[in-house]
Amino acid sequence: MEEIRYFRDLAGEIAREAGELVKSLYRRDIVVERKGMVDLVTEADLKSEAFIMKRISERFPDHEILAEEAGGGFGKTKHLWIVDPLDGTTNYAHGYPVYAVSIALEMDGVIVAGAVYDPNLKELFKAARGEGATLNGEKIGVSHATELHESLLVTGFPYYFRERPDEILALFRAFSLRAQGIRRAGSAALDMCALACGRFDGFWELGLKPWDTAAGSLILTEAGGRLSKLDGSSFDIRMPELLASNSKIHERMLKTIKESKTSRKARPQEKQDLKKSKTSRKARPQEKQDLKKSKTSRKVKTIKERFV
Ligand code: IPD
Ligand code: CA
Ligand code: CA
Repeated sequence: MEEIRYFRDLAGEIAREAGELVKSLYRRDIVVERKGMVDLVTEADLKSEAFIMKRISERFPDHEILAEEAGGGFGKTKHLWIVDPLDGTTNYAHGYPVYAVSIALEMDGVIVAGAVYDPNLKELFKAARGEGATLNGEKIGVSHATELHESLLVTGFPYYFRERPDEILALFRAFSLRAQGIRRAGSAALDMCALACGRFDGFWELGLKPWDTAAGSLILTEAGGRLSKLDGSSFDIRMPELLASNSKIHERMLKTIKESKTSRKARPQEKQDLKKSKTSRKARPQEKQDLKKSKTSRKVKTIKERFV
């Protein structure tokens, strides 16, 4: 216990320092690379990641690190640090101040410590397994909402959205028709922390990566939240889909997902529309070209001096 509390506090300390570093580069930042048409890498992603990796490996030379930009071990090992050096890169690159740094430690396949830091609100979320979750040192817990119509939900769209829009929009539609409101904030790590402290009541997303959810998933479960895949089976950070909630609305969210699938099948008009939209997509060569571009990974080196 002592040891994992130490890991938690260290993750928090490093996340805070990296978050301040990222913030200090804000608005003077440049996009240095594109992983796809809409998937950016900024100088801040790279600097923050180098800083975090240095801090961890100086202290624990035998620990492994999985970091978004540098990659690293994906398998379950004795000690695996899972790092998102800047979650919310698109927001960051556009000057929208909603982004964070996320660091977690997995030991033998179990996440034991995690921290997410938002440098704009100066909010540090931390958790150690079995020890609860905190925001700036104060214990946090999920909301009490029990009905979808009184719930504020949040979601995100994956970078491959253009390749599978129908499935993603069907879910968005189903939840929009049932919830009090939906937000799409642009940082999965912060979405999960906001859920953990009761600001949101539910969250779902497809296309997530381990570094998006590693720390947030522990913070959320330690705050009393529930996680699963979209079909209700066990959540796994190495799998891309996530349904997260305050626990109380989880079953209702699962039911909504099921209904959205059934009603998609049962809606012939919508099917026709879909067919039409596919035909019209065929006729749009520009869109095809864009899609092709978005598949080109890590090729283009663009210097985009947006704020200089
Ligand atoms: C992204 C953000 C976003 C989510 C995407 C993630 P990044 O992470 O968390 O909210 O919708 O799926 O990839 O690229 O900014 O680290
Ligand atoms: Ca991320
Ligand atoms: Ca990132």
